Amino acid sequence: MFEARNGILYVEDVAVTEIAKNVGTPVYITSKSLLERNLKAYRDAFKNSELLYAVKANNNLALMKIISRWDFGADVFSDGELYLSLIAGFDRRRILFNGNSKSEKDIEMGINAGVNFSVDSLDELESIYEIAKRDSKEVEIAFRVNPEIDPKTHPKIATGLKESKFGIPHDEVVKAYEIALKKERIKPIGIHCHIGSQILETSPFVEALNRMFDIAKKVEKLGVEFEFIDIGGGLGIDYEGKGSLTPKQLSEAILPVYERRLSELNSEPKLWLEPGRSIVGNTTILLTKVNAVKRAFKNFVAVDAGFNLLIRPAMYNAFHRVAVANKMEKEAEEVYTIVGPICESGDVLAKDRKLPKVEKGDLIAIFDAGAYGFAMSSQYNGRLRCAEVLVDGRRWWVVREAESYGDLVAKQRIPEWLF
Ligand code: LLP
Repeated sequence: MFEARNGILYVEDVAVTEIAKNVGTPVYITSKSLLERNLKAYRDAFKNSELLYAVKANNNLALMKIISRWDFGADVFSDGELYLSLIAGFDRRRILFNGNSKSEKDIEMGINAGVNFSVDSLDELESIYEIAKRDSKEVEIAFRVNPEIDPKTHPKIATGLKESKFGIPHDEVVKAYEIALKKERIKPIGIHCHIGSQILETSPFVEALNRMFDIAKKVEKLGVEFEFIDIGGGLGIDYEGKGSLTPKQLSEAILPVYERRLSELNSEPKLWLEPGRSIVGNTTILLTKVNAVKRAFKNFVAVDAGFNLLIRPAMYNAFHRVAVANKMEKEAEEVYTIVGPICESGDVLAKDRKLPKVEKGDLIAIFDAGAYGFAMSSQYNGRLRCAEVLVDGRRWWVVREAESYGDLVAKQRIPEWLF
């Protein structure tokens, strides 16, 4: 879906130069076909499982609408993500409201929407109970378990380690179910964990699944009938060209374990998964224009996108492939470091990359930017967020307009006494 034609990078049948000319840069560009290919791969690999899209990876409504049409549910981590999911058409019965620090307002909103909750603490359970009682509502819940599993990924995106802030320790969670069972209007129907992100091996998923079954067996004895076992998301993508796992490989590793262990339970919970990155990550490029090339300690290429738009390299030392999108046929000849316009030395998007000769005005494509790209953007340095474009064959559409200066001041209020 991303290929070179006559030296220009195309997204499906649209030249990125056409989008840059019409929309400007920087701009995020997504291939609809690639998104649907990813969705189909998950659907084919997990026919009898429930797939919840992790909205945090990319909350563009057009993308979310496509995802919901492929019969995905949604994993939401905030009131805002819940709001967006309902607009995008996700079925509320298949929305799981996650989060380790839910406010009363969040809980009210989730209860009114009739979604399931993943409960992260006994305090949260108490808040849900109080609000459900007050509003005469029934709430179905799972507990988020801290499974104490090393997912072998970047420490900042490991979420199920003993020291992580998420979930109830696995050796204390049975007690939590016992407490929940005593509360009217609260119905425990699931168990949930998430061990981390950008995971490139199957063994941590198998370990997590086994841990969930070990706990579910004990909890069933208390009288809970499980409707789902949710092992979260986390499947990695191939940022570096060294390979990653497909949904099929994941299903081949975990479904046999799942089937086998199901026979140990009385209830028949469905397997739930919450993929984010592996749905949207490789569908999108960030296209950015070169403002200046400078020979200093290094060959710096200064572009118009910085960590305000793609924070992953600065935050996790993440690697994203890059290409000179208007010189795709040219040989790589020099080593460049691509930097953004932000007033921080850490504003480096790609380090020491061998590329064709780069000049002012060239377009740089940063690949695999669909997950945790725009979703983590900010207005730091007074930088406006850029547009997002969705390509479908020969047609394309601006699915999010670029911000304007008005967006910098929209919510600011200067006290009268300063005039
Ligand atoms: N479910 C839960 C409860 C999660 O916390 C996450 C991600 C997911 C599902 C989706 O995981 P995925 O399939 O996308 O790996 N900003 C970081 C990633 C943070 C992931 C946080 N949780 C990055 O850019 O690498």
